[in-house]
Amino acid sequence: MNDTTYRWWQSGIIYQIYPRSYQDSNADGIGDLRGIRRRLDYLRSLGVDAIWLSPIYPSPMHDFGYDVADYRDVDPRFGTLDEMERLIDEMHARGLKLILDLVPNHSSSDHPFFVESRSRRDNPKRDWYIWRDPAPDGGPPNNWLSFFGGPAWTYDESSGQYYLHQFVTQQPELNYRNPEVLAWMLDNMRFWLDRGVDGFRVDVIWLMMKDPAFRDEPEDPDWDGVNPHNRLKHLYTADLPEVHELIRQMRATLDAYDDRVMIGEIYLPNDRLMTYYGEALDETHMPYNFQLIDAPWQAQTVKRLVEQYEADLLEGAWPNWVLGNHDQHRMASRVGAAQARVANMLLLTLRGTPTSYYGEEIGMVDGEIPPEFVQDPPAVNQPEIAHIVGRDPERTPMQWNSTANAGFSPSGATTWLPVAADYSERNVAQQEQEPTSMLQLYRTLTRLRRAESALSVGDYMAVDAELPTELYAYRRQGQGGDDDFLVVLNFGGAAHTVDLSREGQRATIAVATSLQRWGAVALAALTVGPNEGLLLRLAAVHQ
Ligand code: NOJ
Repeated sequence: MNDTTYRWWQSGIIYQIYPRSYQDSNADGIGDLRGIRRRLDYLRSLGVDAIWLSPIYPSPMHDFGYDVADYRDVDPRFGTLDEMERLIDEMHARGLKLILDLVPNHSSSDHPFFVESRSRRDNPKRDWYIWRDPAPDGGPPNNWLSFFGGPAWTYDESSGQYYLHQFVTQQPELNYRNPEVLAWMLDNMRFWLDRGVDGFRVDVIWLMMKDPAFRDEPEDPDWDGVNPHNRLKHLYTADLPEVHELIRQMRATLDAYDDRVMIGEIYLPNDRLMTYYGEALDETHMPYNFQLIDAPWQAQTVKRLVEQYEADLLEGAWPNWVLGNHDQHRMASRVGAAQARVANMLLLTLRGTPTSYYGEEIGMVDGEIPPEFVQDPPAVNQPEIAHIVGRDPERTPMQWNSTANAGFSPSGATTWLPVAADYSERNVAQQEQEPTSMLQLYRTLTRLRRAESALSVGDYMAVDAELPTELYAYRRQGQGGDDDFLVVLNFGGAAHTVDLSREGQRATIAVATSLQRWGAVALAALTVGPNEGLLLRLAAVHQ
């Protein structure tokens, strides 16, 4: 198959930047757009194709930008609209695409429309948000819960009603049962599409519609007692059938432009997740696939998940894989430093668009956040489970070098979150020098993935050899004439020698996670070291 039949978001690699934490250019301790622009050559050198920026819109930052006060501008902490346009141009000049975060489910309570909405019950914007009368006892209208602790309803004294927010109280939810709201949000999308952005990652897209009868949600009998939000089954606040019509309209808006992408943030099991491609593949291009984030890091579990996902994909639907993001503890903290290399090899050799979170290319770990620095609302609201639900640890500044503030902010500045303790040993500058660093591994893998269509767009094939349970092996195969690859990943700390001769006699090591093994190997007795991943090139199948 010809490479040009694939869109950039299929053959490419996405890299997520959390703008507050990437590069500070004005010494205020907060990353900004000019800082990102300074790092474009680095991004190019990583071999990624597209950058997804978490929100950069004006915001009071109660949820660090996911509370948007103006959908058509840039927060002064991050820069200006001109700076944004310059970033888009300079990215495009380097062949990089830009994906913005779109946050349609809720705005900031500072958004002028919410200010109007709450001003009076008869204000024309009242119905743009979700208002309900108190329950007979004066309490919230139903039992719905916020993801960030406490009820999903806040009482507004002056107008005598409650408004809905599934995140912080300063994130009132928009009412998509009012068609004017969607029309306005589609205009917001056009505003950025007209300025050349290449697509959107759409925040909590599966939550955009709620039960019109506002029924109580039932208790979940399987609740593990940890996160109170999981105490209820979210039957009436998530994944409602009506949401698909909204998404189709968003997609149609995007499709009026050339070659843009829409990715949905959706935490659902496969059978539900797949519905977000749309029956006619007319909804999101990719509903984000987060299974590897939550799964126990075991070869057989990962194999089962990958193969089930492959089997569940709708005809023509394009897969994708994610190992981390700004809401999840860092991959290297979840699986350990040695396995983080294996994880990057997995991510960059599976079939489907990979999304990397900034810092994963150098194996950044969760930062330790002293209590007085904790800022993330779910952690602030629920100190007893802060270590589980708090997201500050995975948002610490990017580690560029070993100078004070890790090259993120000039020394002397106070960074918005403390730099992680390991920055002087784990940083980009140091890993540039070290021939076998994680950074070199990441680049070696992206270079190969870009060069070999078998890896970027080829088929996934299961390997059924009997292997020790710590090993997971699969093939990636291009069309006739392309090279064919065998990936063997060791999720455990012991070496194994295995017989993979059914896949071929001999192979060459294209990449070993150690970056220290090269050359030919015999597949009848292949040794895979502890915590080692091997990407093996099989002889080309010329027909
Ligand atoms: C999902 C985002 O990824 C998260 O960071 C945010 O807090 C919520 N949506 C609310 O917007």
